[in-house]
Amino acid sequence: MPAEPPPPRAAITAVAMYVPEHILTNAELATRLDTSDDWIVTRTGIRERRIGAPGETTSKMGAEAVRRLIAKRGLVPDDIDAILVATVTPDMLFPATACLIQDQLGLKRAWGFDLSAACSGFLYALTTGAQMVASGAHARVVVVGADLMSSIIDPLDRTTAVLFGDGAGAALLEPAESGYGILDFYHRVDGSGRDDLMMPAGGSLLPPSIATVTARQHFLKQNGRAVFKFAVTTMVESVQILLQRNGLTPADIAMVVPHQANQRILDATAERLGIPRERVASVLAHYGNTTGATLPLALDGALGEGKIARDDLVVFTAVGAGFTSGATLVRWS
Ligand code: ACO
Repeated sequence: MPAEPPPPRAAITAVAMYVPEHILTNAELATRLDTSDDWIVTRTGIRERRIGAPGETTSKMGAEAVRRLIAKRGLVPDDIDAILVATVTPDMLFPATACLIQDQLGLKRAWGFDLSAACSGFLYALTTGAQMVASGAHARVVVVGADLMSSIIDPLDRTTAVLFGDGAGAALLEPAESGYGILDFYHRVDGSGRDDLMMPAGGSLLPPSIATVTARQHFLKQNGRAVFKFAVTTMVESVQILLQRNGLTPADIAMVVPHQANQRILDATAERLGIPRERVASVLAHYGNTTGATLPLALDGALGEGKIARDDLVVFTAVGAGFTSGATLVRWS
């Protein structure tokens, strides 16, 4: 009997990004918060972040990233079958940011939706989009990670205000050549960590009220140390599981593209995996933690520096509020 053909896969065929023009430096933050450039750089590796202009929204940033993506690949809006948007800062609770981007760009044939998995959002959207392509029902799926974190960060809280920035990134998924594309993924959620990273109010539990605004409950809250520990342990474990079940060693991986939260998290992850730091993508110094956008920004950075070539094995990994976590293995085409 002839062998079964391998299952169809999806490949990332283009990547694009958009960040707001305004650069907020550590020195500028230190003029209004009890912090310093030295503390921020030493503890996080972040030197500056981008902050959206008044009127800038998650959908506008996402739409610009997608517009650049479509142009880069030489496509027209009608070529796009679906758009998935990973974000924790949608323009509004509904309608979905995917609909707003669809409308801004005139993606007339596309359907889509938003996906909420915080810092793992882009990774999860990538997996979801890849299944949509692999099913044969879609030829071109756009995956967007976009967050205007400045809209939910407490400007008076030095423990979070220094970490986050605004930005958007997008990737195009299309059917892969045989042997290339998204080979495997491992994802988990652990809701027992829900209180360690969250925005308390604004949902059905604590609808907006004068009391929630006064108590600053519409801003992100986090237990930094708990998130730090969980992030390192879980990213290492996720990557190791993928390596093991695909018969690979750390030496086989050309590039790790991790969620960008803190350079110390990236360094500890690299060390535990036994992967040299130069093979771990980092754009933290320039953009800080942009939540849904960190993976496409880091991927765009690594591609721009020529650090990923055809045939390379690339591992994406992320941890986010929830907790959500996972890793994805790709053979680059
Ligand atoms: N400037 C100066 N001092 C500060 C600042 C600041 N910006 N922020 C906190 N401190 C102080 C604290 O108040 C504390 O002072 P104390 O000792 O008098 O109480 C001291 O610095 C040490 O605080 P720690 O919290 O122990 O500092 P740590 O080295 O853990 O760094 C940080 C804090 C950067 C938040 C770190 O824990 C971290 O990066 N955690 C990961 C969390 C993260 O990045 N979350 C974002 C979401 S990413 C995701 O979803 C995975």
